[in-house]
Amino acid sequence: MKSRRRLVIASNRLPVTAQVVDGRVNFVPSSGGLVSAMTSILRDSGGCWVGWPGFVSNNGVTPMLDFRAAAENYSLQPVLLSEAEQNGYYKGFSNEIIWPLFHGFSTRCSFNLDYWNYYRNVNARFATMINAMSSSEDLVWVHDYHLMLVANFIRAKGRLSDLAYFHHIPFPPPDIFEILPWRVPILRGLLQYDVVGFQTARDQRNFVDCVRRYLPAANVRRVAGRYEVSTSEHSTTAGVYPISIDYESFAGEAMDPTVLERVESIKKSLADSRLILSVDRLDYTKGILERLSAFRLLLSRYPELRGKVTLIQIAVPSREDIPEYQELRLKIENCVSRINGEYGKDGWAPVQYFYRSISRTDLIAYYRAADVAAVTPLRDGMNLVAKEFCAARFDGRGALVLSEFAGAVDELRIGALIVNPYDVERFADALHTALYLNESEQAVRMHAMRLEIRARDVYYWADLFATDCLSATDPVGAGISRAARAYY
Ligand code: ADP
Ligand code: G6P
Repeated sequence: MKSRRRLVIASNRLPVTAQVVDGRVNFVPSSGGLVSAMTSILRDSGGCWVGWPGFVSNNGVTPMLDFRAAAENYSLQPVLLSEAEQNGYYKGFSNEIIWPLFHGFSTRCSFNLDYWNYYRNVNARFATMINAMSSSEDLVWVHDYHLMLVANFIRAKGRLSDLAYFHHIPFPPPDIFEILPWRVPILRGLLQYDVVGFQTARDQRNFVDCVRRYLPAANVRRVAGRYEVSTSEHSTTAGVYPISIDYESFAGEAMDPTVLERVESIKKSLADSRLILSVDRLDYTKGILERLSAFRLLLSRYPELRGKVTLIQIAVPSREDIPEYQELRLKIENCVSRINGEYGKDGWAPVQYFYRSISRTDLIAYYRAADVAAVTPLRDGMNLVAKEFCAARFDGRGALVLSEFAGAVDELRIGALIVNPYDVERFADALHTALYLNESEQAVRMHAMRLEIRARDVYYWADLFATDCLSATDPVGAGISRAARAYY
């Protein structure tokens, strides 16, 4: 077995993002499931995190990051991006091509050769930084669609082993993937990693189907739930590793007296109204407009619920420079005003809408205060909010209405009420059913989901992934230990 290895993580974003306010640089926590999950893992294992610290591009950032990292068990290594790189690689290729295409929204894509060139160049820059920060003993674990070509550039510099990649978002089927003008270099780039991880069996199958269609010379073999994909250059394991949360910390914090105080004040502010809660980054994949339509239909169909149920929609600002996101924000705000205008009465607003980040204490308090959590993306790699809501419900109360298009449905269908978020009629009915589930049914469903999440938490996920990395790169050491934290 190998000696303790360091974990070097690379993702587009560092766990903190720099913002310039009144000419001064401040750091705020980055948003999104990737950061939530990986922060727990690195805190536990130690190591190094390579990534972009936000939109500033000046030299004063590194000492400030060192200062931030001093409080943690790992170091933060910035990759600074120029404005042109941010526009071409991040906003352009990553978020106006790959993000919409891989979520099945091909008409929202804006294909542009410049974006591709920036994407390649920035991936090469990440590779250079990772090489500088790691030795051949370390496990380099690259994350998400911004960095699919990094292994390509690292291999070109002579490194032979231990490069792994986890894909946090869906992988599309060949009939969608084929639209991408750079489909072959992207597949070739992914096949330079030793292990490529997906959230669901469906994503894994889609990837393998794309390889079969566009790299017909590759040899694909099914081995114990994984696929081994071999080309003349390299062999890659493609596996399924559903990401999760730090269950114990959510469950523990949910019992904290500060959280309980907040729960009481939230409930008090709602008077005798029931609470449907939704928490998302403001993103068109999250189905916020469809959810508002379903809620509106609920109020129209069941007049007795008027004044008796409130939807709290927390929308975390995201990718605000991209026009699609600005337009969506306006549409959501119009829709909220329309519902409140139509149905609001006597100090009761049917929808309370917050466009901001909230503290973790408040987030957990909302999870605890909710009667129903509506987690209904149009397409989502996993969705950690669904799992966090359940982890926080140690009281066994609350119902989860979950989209059949969230990766989390594979694990949570045992207890959730499953909806097609485009089917607004049935969606409204599911909200109604969720509001009237009796206590024992809530408890049975919640218990089943919590057991599942507890058994396969974020540490289990990392162990599973790291074990496959070890077996892919070191067959002798394979299978010796599932306690992969010992490898780091
Ligand atoms: P995505 O990665 O697409 O944003 P996920 O549901 O997987 O979607 O992850 C969202 C993460 O962001 C969760 O871990 C959640 O706790 C966190 N989060 C959501 N809303 C807020 C908020 N208002 N403030 C801070 N963190 C939030
Ligand atoms: C999703 C992606 C992450 C990304 C996050 C926030 O969770 O999978 O890679 O970091 O959204 O998006 P942003 O563009 O702000 O980094």
